[in-house]
Amino acid sequence: MLEGKKIIVTGCSSGIGAETARLIKSHGGMVIGIDRNEPAANVDTFFQADLSSKASIDALVKALPKGADGLANIAGVPPTAPADLVIQVNLVGLKYLTGKIVDDLADGASIVNLASLAGAGWQNAVDQIKDAATLDFDEVNDFVEKYKIKETQGRSYFFAKEALVVWTMQNRWTWRDRGIRMNAVSPGAVETPILQDFLDTLGKKAEESRKVMDRWGTPEDIAPVLVFLLSDMTPWIRGVNIPVDGGQVANVMCNMNGL
Ligand code: NAI
Repeated sequence: MLEGKKIIVTGCSSGIGAETARLIKSHGGMVIGIDRNEPAANVDTFFQADLSSKASIDALVKALPKGADGLANIAGVPPTAPADLVIQVNLVGLKYLTGKIVDDLADGASIVNLASLAGAGWQNAVDQIKDAATLDFDEVNDFVEKYKIKETQGRSYFFAKEALVVWTMQNRWTWRDRGIRMNAVSPGAVETPILQDFLDTLGKKAEESRKVMDRWGTPEDIAPVLVFLLSDMTPWIRGVNIPVDGGQVANVMCNMNGL
C-alpha cells in the first residue's frame, strides 16, 4: 500500500508511533523516524530531536531529507506531564515542525496528526483555540496562566488535542494546489506506556468508560488507520478527524441525543 513511499514518523520509538513505523515498513514504505529516544527497530533513518524545543526542531529540519511522501505527527506526552510541556510538544512543536517541512514534502503528500478522543469537545473551547492560533514556544507559559489551565487536571492535554483537531480542519485546503492533505486520527484509551497516565488523570471517568467498552485499544488498532490515510487511497479525505475508539464517540452521541 505504501511501496516506495518515504514517511516521516514522529514518536517512532514507542507505542502507537512504533507500531505505525512497523506497519509502514510492512506495506513497503521507508520510515524516517524522529523521537527524543532511540527506537529499537522499524526505522530506515533516525533523527533524535526534542519536539518541545524550537532550536531542536530547527536543527532537525536542516538535517531531514527532502521529498518525503508523508508525515505522521504521533509524538506526544500524557496529561500527567507539566502543562507547558504538554502544549509545547502536543501542539506548538507539532505545528512548528509541520510548517517548517511542508514546503519540502513531495506533491501529493499526506499529513496525519495523532489527536485523541480528548479533543472531541473542541466546540466548547473555540475562543481559547483561536487565541492559541499563533502561540509560540515561549508564550505557552503566559497562555497557561491566562486560561488557568493548571487548575483543571489534564486540561493542558485536552486543550492541545482540541486545538489539534481544529487546526487539522482549518488546513483542509491549505496545500490543495500541491495535492497535500491533512487529517487526524483520534484514539480512545490505548495500551501503551502512557495509558496509566490517562487513567490517573481521568479517575472515575476512565472507570466508567472502561465499563462500557469491551477492552482498551491497542497500537495495532490505531496504526492501520494512519497507514490508510498515508496511502494514495485517500486523496479526497481532507481535514477530517477519524475516531478509532471502539465506539465511544458514537456511544456519547447516542446518549446525548436520546438515541
Ligand atoms: P508513548 O509514550 O508510547 O509514545 C510517545 C512517543 O513520543 C515516545 O516515543 C516519546 O519518546 C515521544 N516523545 C514524547 N515527547 C517527545 C519530545 N519532546 N520530542 C520527541 N519525541 C517525544 O505514547 P503513545 O500512547 O504511543 O502516544 C502516541 C500519541 O498518541 C500521543 O500523541 C498521544 O497523545 C496519543 N494518544 C494516546 C492515547 C493512549 O491512550 N495511549 C490515546 C489517544 C491519543
